Amino acid sequence: MRGIILAGGTGSRLWPATKAVSKQLIPVFDKPMIYYPLSTLLMAGVSEVLIITAPSSQEQFQRLLGSGHHLGIDIEYAVQNHPGGLAQAFLVGEKFIGDGPVALILGDNIFHGPGLARHMAHSTPVKGGHIFACVVPQPQPYAVIELDGGGNPVSLEEKPGHPRSHYAVPGLYFYDNQVIDIARSLTPSPRGELEITDVNTSYLERGELHVTVFDRDTAWMDAGTFAALTHASEFVRGVEERQGIKIGCVEETAWRLGRIDDDQLARLAAPLTGNGYGEYLLSLLDRGEGSIRAHQ
Ligand code: DAU
Repeated sequence: MRGIILAGGTGSRLWPATKAVSKQLIPVFDKPMIYYPLSTLLMAGVSEVLIITAPSSQEQFQRLLGSGHHLGIDIEYAVQNHPGGLAQAFLVGEKFIGDGPVALILGDNIFHGPGLARHMAHSTPVKGGHIFACVVPQPQPYAVIELDGGGNPVSLEEKPGHPRSHYAVPGLYFYDNQVIDIARSLTPSPRGELEITDVNTSYLERGELHVTVFDRDTAWMDAGTFAALTHASEFVRGVEERQGIKIGCVEETAWRLGRIDDDQLARLAAPLTGNGYGEYLLSLLDRGEGSIRAHQ
């Protein structure tokens, strides 16, 4: 399956921090924000990635991640000229998607937890769409999904004033190829965007929307505001320092999945020694944990 990271937008909620640099490149604790969704996509089994950016920031992403070959994956880049909504990703990425299924992850969404890989392993839809639900105390800033007693979706609303449940929909979506036609058929919402929630509603109306509720061990963060960004950095720092592991470390993820070997991991670590990051990568080899192990 191919995967898209949507890393455009104006980042206006984080101005002035994001006036000169893309939001998805600013650090969440010890690594650029985009490392986290990229790691998540790799864990989902994706090895061909399209990164969609604003026109002015494409070159910065290319400098950071290049062709992806150093990680054993292929990365392509595309530009979204105006932030016309999340569902525009399927129109910008139409050629890249081809005639197969596609995963979409938002560039400011961070996921962590032992069950994440398992959740995603069951999510590639043969037919339809597969999304997730996560209990949050304040669901108003998100899409909110209502589920029946059997866990089946009943209704969906984008940023409701009076949410019908506490299930927020995080920015990780799996679709079959119908998503391109669905995106093409959408009309912009009152805020002028092609809404991902309208895509999901379309699948819901066809009876083809599948939902997995994240278990309590799966953490989800949207780092789109200063408070959320700080919270995400503190979370990552807490886990990393306490457990001696890294979250969202793409080099480690690629190595654990067997996309790169020990020698390549050592090559990637070499220029990074001196700040802890490179030492961490080298320590993975010293620990003798070997490749192809379930990540997290
Ligand atoms: O975080 C999950 C939520 O993300 C979902 O629950 C909502 O259904 C979904 O609409 C979205 O809500 P946000 O208000 O967080 O979306 P935002 O406009 O902040 O965009 C999310 C990311 O996508 C952000 O990193 C910028 C990027 N983006 C956004 C738009 C509208 C683009 O690259 N292009 C765009 O056109």
